[in-house]
Amino acid sequence: MILHVNHVQPDRTALTTSVVSTLLTVAGEGQVSRRTLDNLNVHLDWVQYKTNFREAVSVRRATKGEELLPWIEVGVDLRQVRQETLKEEFVHALNDVGADATGSRKRIYLEPFAPMRCSLIWTFNKLFWQHRPLWEKATGRGFEKALPTGQSDANHPLAIADSVADVWTLLKDLENQKQLPPEIFVLEIGVGTGQRAALWLNRFRDLDRERGTQYYPRIRFLLADYSVTTLDAAQQTVQDHRELASFLAVDALDPFKSLSFLRYKVLYIHLTNVYDNLPTDELVTRDGRLYFVEVRSYVSFGEAARISETFSVPPAEFTRTVNRLLEAGPQHLSLSDVQQSVGFWRAVWDAIRLEERFVAIEGVSEAPLPPGIRPSQLENFIANAATNQRFHVSSGALESFINTVPLLHPRGYLQVQDIFVTDLADYPRMFRGPGKMDGSIVNWVNGALLAEVGEQAGYDVHFAPFHYREGSRTSILYTTHRE
Ligand SMILES: C[S@@+](CC[C@H](N)C(=O)[O-])C[C@H]1O[C@@H](n2cnc3c(N)ncnc32)[C@H](O)[C@@H]1O
Repeated sequence: MILHVNHVQPDRTALTTSVVSTLLTVAGEGQVSRRTLDNLNVHLDWVQYKTNFREAVSVRRATKGEELLPWIEVGVDLRQVRQETLKEEFVHALNDVGADATGSRKRIYLEPFAPMRCSLIWTFNKLFWQHRPLWEKATGRGFEKALPTGQSDANHPLAIADSVADVWTLLKDLENQKQLPPEIFVLEIGVGTGQRAALWLNRFRDLDRERGTQYYPRIRFLLADYSVTTLDAAQQTVQDHRELASFLAVDALDPFKSLSFLRYKVLYIHLTNVYDNLPTDELVTRDGRLYFVEVRSYVSFGEAARISETFSVPPAEFTRTVNRLLEAGPQHLSLSDVQQSVGFWRAVWDAIRLEERFVAIEGVSEAPLPPGIRPSQLENFIANAATNQRFHVSSGALESFINTVPLLHPRGYLQVQDIFVTDLADYPRMFRGPGKMDGSIVNWVNGALLAEVGEQAGYDVHFAPFHYREGSRTSILYTTHRE
């Protein structure tokens, strides 16, 4: 057995020591076969998201084609682990590692294994943004309250003031060079409440007045989101600027598809906390070999029975009811009322976990890459990965980036505020997702890979810390056309 202590909280060393001691006891007690122990790697993690997709103890196997590889990985989440049951759970997990052990795991699988970005958890994520008002009514709080600080960095007044000042300076410069277009296009993607757009426009109008430049009436502010309910709410928020604002149903994965008429026209594009919410795959290196992660979502028999009973869903109808929820939305479940349907939705989401397996590949060309990304764009990057590392491909973020930059005016820039891992070596410092945030998903974004792909596509990409809030983990990515 090899033990990997991936991240330990400084104030939890006693817990970690005692977990390690329990694991060593199990190894020495003969309750687990020698063969299993010889092939075993245990990873100790601290999964900081209070709701997430992991059990306290989870087994991951690796496959190569049809073959089940002998090595076994067990993940232990130090935050969830309960000392009283750890030993039993660990032994149980290790005696249940065969490919055909699915029956004894007592799980209702909601889908077959697939690359992570294809999992139905992303359909849940979209469902949340499309029906957010129903969810928020049930919880009695807005989605921003689930963030660590209870508010979104998108709306930080100083950050907005700086952004407005930067855009104003760019416009002034273009005007001095007689290159300022008659219409000044500004685009925000993934607008949430619309609060940032409103604050940004307020501030821009004030600055424009102060400096007597008359740019404000020329602004065309485009608020883009894939959630129509979100766009409707944002419309109320930016009412004061309705003559300049347009609300567009756009998929952040491919803004160019809906907005190609704006090619080379947009001077400023902004996103906060959207890349971290887009589908992603994960790659893993183990002993220098490359694997991609496949997942299948499940709900344990016990949780499914409890949820079925609470919401009077016949147990045999559990999976069908989940599928109906995803296809038709909570209003169209045949439960007694919408409140019950939202309750069912929240309970299922809370109970969903992901079983993972690692699929061996010979090289990046065999990995599921986002459209528009060539294996050669990842090869350098992967060559620098450590022999044992796990990281996101940030497939959705890469796709979004590649399909957004063509909209940029030659002097325009893209600004993305998010939780980026800007150096591959920083990946193991903490758990990087996926976690659950209310009904949505959050993953850190592989900024190092994004920068590499951006550079190769002819853009300058750099990161600055979000210094407006002390202790913030957000960074700001800036992208411009390379000179
Ligand atoms: C976490 S919220 C961030 C909202 C806001 N930018 C903020 O920081 O407060 C994510 C936003 O992105 C939108 N979104 C998520 N995935 C999207 C996609 N594929 N296409 C368009 N919008 C998306 C959601 O509807 C939501 O408005």
